[in-house]
Amino acid sequence: MIDQIKDLTNEIQSYAVSTKDELEAFRLEFLSRNGRVQSMFKNLGSVPKEERGAVGKAMNEAKQLAQSRFDNLKTKLESTDQQVKAAIDDITLPAPEPIIGSLHPLTQTLAEMKNIFYRLGFTIADGPEVEDDFHNFTALNFPPNHPARDEQDTFFVRKSDDPNMMDLVLRTHTSPVQIRLMENTKPPIRSIMPGRVYRNEAVSPKSYFLFHQVEALYVDENVSVADLKETLITFVKLMYGSNVKYRLRPGFFPFTEPSLEMDIWWGSEKDGKWLEILGSGMVDPNVFTAAGVDPEKYTGFAWGMGVERIAILKYGIDDIRTFYENDIRFLEQFN
Ligand code: DAH
Repeated sequence: MIDQIKDLTNEIQSYAVSTKDELEAFRLEFLSRNGRVQSMFKNLGSVPKEERGAVGKAMNEAKQLAQSRFDNLKTKLESTDQQVKAAIDDITLPAPEPIIGSLHPLTQTLAEMKNIFYRLGFTIADGPEVEDDFHNFTALNFPPNHPARDEQDTFFVRKSDDPNMMDLVLRTHTSPVQIRLMENTKPPIRSIMPGRVYRNEAVSPKSYFLFHQVEALYVDENVSVADLKETLITFVKLMYGSNVKYRLRPGFFPFTEPSLEMDIWWGSEKDGKWLEILGSGMVDPNVFTAAGVDPEKYTGFAWGMGVERIAILKYGIDDIRTFYENDIRFLEQFN
């Protein structure tokens, strides 16, 4: 019985109303003659004698609480009524700020990146998130037993022993879009390819099983490493300001030769570290051949940059998971 009274008390305490009708509903439910508080008193007779005193006391308290909650709610309603009335009377009062949404920080970062590459003459292309083995790996010159082809790193959508049926994966990078673009377009090609990618990784502040990349491909006669470097340096200066601290160092990817990686300095002068933002390189002739482009005639550069990484550096974010939790307190900071 005592528990029941406690539940009822809690309910009364947390009851909220925003209209007169709701206030009336409260009164009927808790305060009227047939209301829940009065009905409790009817059961008092069946409570054992020795407990009756305590139970009766609790019931009386619940009754008082219901009454005072009612009075409070009523006063509150009336005062907001008056505020509304006052506001309507004085139409010169400033209107309350409307609460409007804002673009997700990744969307904002991506928009900024697209804008920069648009100015540098790149068009935008895209491709499927569920890819076949050929476009995600083989055409990009991955050897048959490369570790990325392992289920530890890659989400398989379809895995088959039948040699006529290709494996399907959630694309692990945006590079397969390069292949699709070359299959469908004659050079010159100068495009960026933004999109989601997936990796079978343990979730931590540094990694998530899904993230975004912006791939780029520039194919023409006489494209050189100097063009690649110049484009990358121009990008980081436009994105982070001309004082940005960056470095280019050699890397390795099956689909480029030579390959370069780019890092940006993150944090203060004394107390910071290098953060990798992209992989890039000169398109490997094997990739051109697989995609139907003549490697004797054309050269090209490519890169894949991480959008989360770019945003983390831009906004000083320290946990990649915050991008996907949709916590309004995080999102509100990017209005
Ligand atoms: N696909 C690579 C990755 O996900 C990134 C990359 C490196 C893309 C070099 C490229 C490239 O186009 O040329 O790690």
